[in-house]
Parts: sequence; structure tokens; C-alpha cells
Amino acid sequence: MTFTARTELNPNPRSDAERDAILADPGFGTSFTDHMFVADWTLEDGWHDARVVPYGPILMDPASAVLHYAQEIFEGLKAYAHPSGEVALFRPDQNAERMRRSARRLALPELPDEWFLGSIDALIAADRAWVPSGGEKSLYLRPFMYASEAFLGVRPSAKVTYSVIASPAGAYFKGGVKPVSIWLSTSYTRAGAGGTGAAKCGGNYAASLLPQQEGIAHGCDQVVFLDSIEQTWIEELGGMNLFFVQSDGTIVTPELTGSILEGITRGSILTLAGDLGHEVVQRRVSLDEWRTGVADDTITEIFACGTAAVVTPVGRLKWDGGEVVSTDGDAGQVTTAIRSALIDLQYGRAEDHHGWVRPTS
Ligand code: PLP
Ligand code: COI
Repeated sequence: MTFTARTELNPNPRSDAERDAILADPGFGTSFTDHMFVADWTLEDGWHDARVVPYGPILMDPASAVLHYAQEIFEGLKAYAHPSGEVALFRPDQNAERMRRSARRLALPELPDEWFLGSIDALIAADRAWVPSGGEKSLYLRPFMYASEAFLGVRPSAKVTYSVIASPAGAYFKGGVKPVSIWLSTSYTRAGAGGTGAAKCGGNYAASLLPQQEGIAHGCDQVVFLDSIEQTWIEELGGMNLFFVQSDGTIVTPELTGSILEGITRGSILTLAGDLGHEVVQRRVSLDEWRTGVADDTITEIFACGTAAVVTPVGRLKWDGGEVVSTDGDAGQVTTAIRSALIDLQYGRAEDHHGWVRPTS
């Protein structure tokens, strides 16, 4: 299963003017490049037919298992234009590994890392012109894998499709780096013990949509979920991990419980915060600790992090009947320093001591 991909170039790519207009103000997840990557897997033949083809609709049998039983996983990572002119990825090996973990949990076939990395290189080679430069822009890459066998019996699909699409990206939140407000979901959890919370599967996001709607109805940008058993411990947001900065400089993030997604940004921040001289701790953080810590100033900053949202300060936590405000204005000093350390590496402005930056070939 050595990786080689063929490329069928799009005979009708967007014009330079159209592409430039999109890259000038890409937003998040609304525009897509001229190509996509596709590969197939069958029980008999394993992974095969790796190809870059023109971006376009997928013809799908209505009985495809993914449409009925949600056997699907995805990844999210970004390609950055560096000052050297190179296009680089940030820790894509971690995405490859997480995708294999997610595949195991969803009874999907594991994609070899060489195929994961090769698929991204092949797509970027075809769509190099779509990697934006300037500002905090990037090309967001969305690898995904789904059950494509036409069969209604409930068992792992014998036919699977892996694909990668790419979308030029600016800020995930319209407000840029302004603090976001968080709604506390007490009626719903995102993931339960023994469930799929630690896997990056579409079903987790489907489960977060109703509470997210509830949060928006209460004037909030995002929802925070508590653990499903005790309804006491902070887990994460619908699409981001959380960090708390204590007044003694210690940085705390909820420990991985099996129902939290292990963010690659989270892991990178644990290391970078250590580099910046902070003590970093992974442990359980209770809802009460958040409320009282903000009120008595033992928690001085809170931020959320993820590939799409990078590092975003948390301004307030709201619930039915109250709120606590951690910042009304700009991001705090520690949040800002960590954010800069991370994006300077991602955008090739700082020396990569950890070997995290991988130029595309
Ligand atoms: N938690 C959830 C539920 C997510 O969807 C994401 C985004 O990918 C994260 C955390 C952060 O993960 P990463 O830093 O790997 O993007
Ligand atoms: C990401 O940060 O890549 C995510 O997956 C979050 C969200 C867009 C689903």
C-alpha cells in the first residue's frame, strides 16, 4: 500500500480574479478550492485509487451506511504560507495519528500515516495558489472518512471513502480575537462515558448543535459541556478545549477523561506554556472552581483553543440565572503571549525547536 496519487486537473478552475476576491476575505468554511483528494477502501483490496480530482459533488447511493448510522470521522488542520515562500503544516503527524484513533473507535479502517500526509501534499500541490498569505489567514484542510457501502444492516461498512477538501480561512469568530461568551449547558452533554467523545466523529457535533442553539438564544457564542455522570466537571466547548490561568501563573486544563477530544492545539500549548515558564497542570476542573475562581481572582484568564479558533479569550460564562465575567475587554497577557508563541511557529516567524513544522513537498 505504498502511497502514489494521480492528479486530474480541474479544466475549469476559478479565475485569478475570483480566487483573489475569496482570499481577500475568506471567512471560515464557505469557499472551497478547485480540487479535492479521494481514495477508496474495501474489505478485499484495502486502500487504493488515491487521486486528486476536480472539486465537485459526490454521487452517493441513498443506502450508503454513513447516511443512516453516521459511521464517519474527520480531521482539521491548516496550511500556512511562510515568509520563505514555503507552504507548511503544523504537526500533521498528530492529525494522522488522531484520525487512526478515531477510525478505531468508529470501526473504520485506519488510514496509514503515509497516505494521510501524502493526500495533503498532493492536494496542496494542485491548489497551491489557494494558500492565502498576509494577516492570520491559512488554508483549512478537512480530511474525512465515511462508510460508503450501500447496506442497511448495522455492521461496519465493507466500503469506505476517504477524502480531503480545502477551504481558505480567516478568523473563525467574526469578532476576531475579541473575548467570546460561553453558555453553560445543563440539559445536555456532548459525550458520555464510554461514548465517542475522544473521537473526532460527526455525531459528536450533531449532538452539540441543539445546546449550541440554546447558547445563541441566550446571547452566547459557544457552549461548554460538563461531564455526563456528575455534571460537575468542565469538559470542553463544542469545538475547542479550555485553559484556565491561575493568579500564581499556573496554567490548568481539564485532564483527558475519554470523553474529551485531545486537541493538538491543547497539546502544543501545554508544551509552549512550559517553555514560557508556566507550570502546566492537567486535572479535573469543577464548574464551582470556574465560578468562584473568577469571582475571587484566583483565576485571572480563561481561553479556548483549537485549529479553527486558534487561541480565543473567554469573556464570560452564562447560565440560567447568572453569569461570571472573566474579561470585558482585550485578551489577558498570558493568553496573548501563548497565542503569539503558537502562531509565530505556525506562520514560520519563530524558530521551530520542537520539530513541529512540516513543509509540504
Ligand atoms: N475539541 C473539539 C470538540 C474540537 O472539535 C476541536 C477542534 O478540532 C478541538 C477540541 C481542538 O482540537 P485541535 O486543537 O486538534 O484542533
Ligand atoms: C477545528 O478546529 O478544526 C474544528 O474541527 C472545530 C470545528 C470547526 C469543528
